[in-house]
Amino acid sequence: MTDVVETPAPARTTTDETWWRQASVYQIYPRSFADANGDGIGDLRGITDRVPYLASLGVEAVWLSPFYPSALADGGYDVDDYRDVDPRLGTLADFDAMVAALHGAGMRVIVDIVPNHTSDRHAWFREALASPAGSAARDRYVFRDGTGPDRAEPPADWVSIFGGPAWTAVGDGQWYLHNFAKEQPDLNWANREVRDDFLTTLRFWSDRGVDGFRIDVAHGLAKDLPAELPAWAEVLAAPKDGSHILWDRDDVHEIYAEWRTVFDEYTPARTAVAEAWVAADRRARYASAEGLGQAFNFDLLESDFDAASFKQIIEFNLGLAEQSGSSTTWVFSNHDVVRHATRYALPPRSGDADHAPTTDKQGAAWLLAGGSQDALDRPLGLRRARAATLLELALPGSAYLYQGEELGLHEVGDIPDADRQDPAFFRNPGVDVGRDGCRVPLPWTRTGESFGFGSGGSHLPQPAWFAESSVKAEEADPDSTLHLYRTALGLRGQLQSEERLEWIETGRDDVLAFRRPSGWTSVTVFGDEPYALPAGELLLASAPVVDGALAGVGTAWLRS
Ligand code: NOJ
Repeated sequence: MTDVVETPAPARTTTDETWWRQASVYQIYPRSFADANGDGIGDLRGITDRVPYLASLGVEAVWLSPFYPSALADGGYDVDDYRDVDPRLGTLADFDAMVAALHGAGMRVIVDIVPNHTSDRHAWFREALASPAGSAARDRYVFRDGTGPDRAEPPADWVSIFGGPAWTAVGDGQWYLHNFAKEQPDLNWANREVRDDFLTTLRFWSDRGVDGFRIDVAHGLAKDLPAELPAWAEVLAAPKDGSHILWDRDDVHEIYAEWRTVFDEYTPARTAVAEAWVAADRRARYASAEGLGQAFNFDLLESDFDAASFKQIIEFNLGLAEQSGSSTTWVFSNHDVVRHATRYALPPRSGDADHAPTTDKQGAAWLLAGGSQDALDRPLGLRRARAATLLELALPGSAYLYQGEELGLHEVGDIPDADRQDPAFFRNPGVDVGRDGCRVPLPWTRTGESFGFGSGGSHLPQPAWFAESSVKAEEADPDSTLHLYRTALGLRGQLQSEERLEWIETGRDDVLAFRRPSGWTSVTVFGDEPYALPAGELLLASAPVVDGALAGVGTAWLRS
């Protein structure tokens, strides 16, 4: 049930320079959003065609996962050319038209920058392969001699993040480092030319009107490999205190300080958000005003659906934001994890019946076991997801939403092996099924070719149950998740206030309530028992409100 009252629009708390601090940002995975040219792959014109849909959602910005030329060895995170558009997705002119349409509808545009690695088809890597050991071309990457007779053994026993070896031979006794797939050679950020080229890329997109950047693997760029490479066990055991040879080095921030000078050349200054999987107490460095300015906080994504955990995470991250001077960020779903409606639908962990199993690891285990929808409590997962999202949208900071979550879409768990695309699946047989299940093209209509995604089918198979989660079906249902998101995002725009909250005593361990300075109050019931709402005007609820009591597993917003 979605109870709504009309709310007058108070003055916005953000300015042109601070728009990002509390923005609602909708992530588009371009190949799976909308396909205008009917080749089975989503494209930029598909996005432009759907600008009215995005505007009707009420999001303030759109973040596009990579749309650059790519062999898709890693869903586009293997970039052939940082300053062009994949011909299957369109042209630079299509990009400009898309930006103009989004800006025209009042939305900002964020693009993904992938600086840790290029693809193995990038001109630099081809040149490196054609050049001898010790050449300037090889110095742009991380090459090392192999070990053993004929240097036929890898320089070290390191393992890539997608599984399998992290060093690959190039046939002349040298090997290159790739922390991800072998088609993603790591760049050498000690090389000045590499640094300069990315400054050119940042200006290239900023000049085309891009408002901000999402920085992939932001904690990986700076490396300091000793002449004698340590064993992988040692690399894993080394403390990540800023001096680790691969991850989260203190000197990575020298790179971002340079980037900041580029961001600040523009008015308003371009923004950036770091994807940095680092210890929470080191996140603030990425979010500093002298650096990228904001960093993802994935803590809620990794948490159980549990009041105490949520409260601890919220307090901790608001504290971190204060420390860095940035605002915090909230994420439940993205293109790398099992969708949150599905994580929340998994059966309770054995021996822990009170806690919803929600972490991505558990999602991955469900996928490995076949990913059957029958193993899910779909309605419960959706109720929790709706409650979690309303709570998220009421929090101070930016909310990053992933395409399809506004439909309450579930993960497609049972994609046949023959259709899978994710390198994590191919590099980790029997261990990791990969991330294709959250990247299945969106259902726009109940029926028809690829549920309205495009006239040329869908590059990942869509299940029959997509029909009931399609935009068309949800538009017709006033109680749908799509209507809930639209209403919530609209109200958020009106009720947004200073980046503070005050907790309200609820008298129950499973109920969280807080009030923002504008009087915007959010109450979440994590358990099953209804909860009598405090005094105030009911604005919206993700679950029924009967006689002033919010049903279990729900969030209500009030003005008090
Ligand atoms: C993080 C991205 O979100 C993920 O999709 C990608 O596979 C890795 N970085 C490598 O670029």
